[in-house]
Amino acid sequence: MTSSTPSKDLEEILKISMLINSTFETNEVLNRIMDSANRVVKAEASSILLIDKKQDSLYFYVALGDKGEEVKKFTVKMGEGIAGWVAKHSKPLLVPDVQKDDRWFKDISKKVNYQTKSILCVPLKLKDKTIGVLEVINKMGGNSFSLEDQSLLETFSNLAAISIQNARSYQDIKFENINLKKELSHSKLPQDFIGESSLIKEKLEMVDQVAPTNTTVLLLGESGTGKELFAEHVHYKSERVGKPLIKVNCAAIPENLIETELFGHVKGAFTNAVTDKMGKFELAGGGTIFLDEIGELSYSIQSKLLRVLQDHTFERVGGTTTRKVDIRLIAATNKNLYEEVSKNRFREDLFFRLNVFPIFIPPLRERREDIAPLAEYFLQRFNRELKKSVKGITPEAMNLLKRYYWPGNVRELQNVIERSVVLCKGTEIGRKDLYIESDSISVKSIDIDPVLSLKNAVNDFKRGYITKVLEKHGWKQTKASESLKIQRTYLSRLINELNISKI
Ligand SMILES: Nc1ncnc2c1ncn2[C@@H]1O[C@H](COP(=O)(O)OP(=O)(O)OP(=O)(O)O)[C@@H](O)[C@H]1O
Ligand SMILES: [Mg+2]
Repeated sequence: MTSSTPSKDLEEILKISMLINSTFETNEVLNRIMDSANRVVKAEASSILLIDKKQDSLYFYVALGDKGEEVKKFTVKMGEGIAGWVAKHSKPLLVPDVQKDDRWFKDISKKVNYQTKSILCVPLKLKDKTIGVLEVINKMGGNSFSLEDQSLLETFSNLAAISIQNARSYQDIKFENINLKKELSHSKLPQDFIGESSLIKEKLEMVDQVAPTNTTVLLLGESGTGKELFAEHVHYKSERVGKPLIKVNCAAIPENLIETELFGHVKGAFTNAVTDKMGKFELAGGGTIFLDEIGELSYSIQSKLLRVLQDHTFERVGGTTTRKVDIRLIAATNKNLYEEVSKNRFREDLFFRLNVFPIFIPPLRERREDIAPLAEYFLQRFNRELKKSVKGITPEAMNLLKRYYWPGNVRELQNVIERSVVLCKGTEIGRKDLYIESDSISVKSIDIDPVLSLKNAVNDFKRGYITKVLEKHGWKQTKASESLKIQRTYLSRLINELNISKI
């Protein structure tokens, strides 16, 4: 007979079931299970021993009671003592008086100076496999444990098994996920990097220099210049290759969600937080985190980011545990961060932290040598992707591509080529297939995107205008210079300086 009422026992069991469903903290659940078992069967001490197959022994996973902590230091051989016998035979055992049972192994009780009288021990089975035992010692009040106690302890053993199974499945999924991620980051190489201009080669050299270090990299440049591609190359050329590269577009996440996205949350942190969730920083652990459009972060998140950069620590939203993370940060923005700092929209201290190794990626119009190779590369790519066989780009069309202003940079060029491959009916992409304004340096485009220094804007204008005049005169420099009302030698110098060519 147990002294607690059946409804109380049921209540305890219900509480444990609920706990199992709400957490993967096996350690906590198993401790709580044994604590409940103790109360329900009125025992002085209780423990869970798990089988260590390699050592052919059992070790204490949970040990409650006065001597619990001391007992934990011991292991029991398979088949030895009551616990060893139950583990080996996979059957419950009720021993009213240990002195009268040969199977009892007195060693541990003696060493911790504990008087054992009665023991009830049941196997802990996962599916059909015995993985350990649950044991309760000394019924309070001097009686022996009953058969009813035995079936209650068996119920607790089932609950423990469910908890262990849950945790194992969760670990498997987590492990699988990590492996999958590793595989993905191994197999997914960054896209080819096309660039022949000395300007871009210089930047690629900077990537080679900084990649193997852990230095924070700040990528600056207009939209579509290739900041993300640069970030990928920094990661893949670093020792962190094979570890995750986690990309976060700070502009795409609503302000109220960004903190949990970055740092995760604990269960119950807010209404929808039904489970614990890892943030991007944890996911990037050991690898690289790429914070795109970092200029969009609010002031309060900027402070939290600063802390991660300074001491690599953070807390999940709603959590109290401070977590440490090993990450390399790459940030990107098309904003002028100096200006943002001066207008108090970006923290100066964070800016200095980020600005350790800035790489400015020049707009496409300032590296026009890259236009032809990029156009050819995109042509081949879209031929493949769209199953087309466009052979090339006419000189006239290429000329236009080279002179265009490219406010959307490489991304715009990529889109223009994709569209022209779709539309192209002949074997070559002609001027008409491009659908871009032939007047590459219209005042309109400068108005839309006032990013050029005056000198560059003027040079752009000169380049476009002189090219047009040269075209009009069949590239005859004498006639063109007359029309422009400048010396022929001056025109020739401008052609060189402005990098003007027929194709
Ligand atoms: N040098 C390059 N070689 C090949 N492809 C490139 C190059 N630069 C950019 N691209 C391609 O152009 C597109 C735009 O580049 P990316 O997304 O890296 O630019 P971004 O600077 O991050 O733009 P945004 O600021 O708009 O996010 C991508 O598809 C990228 O692969
Ligand atoms: Mg980008």
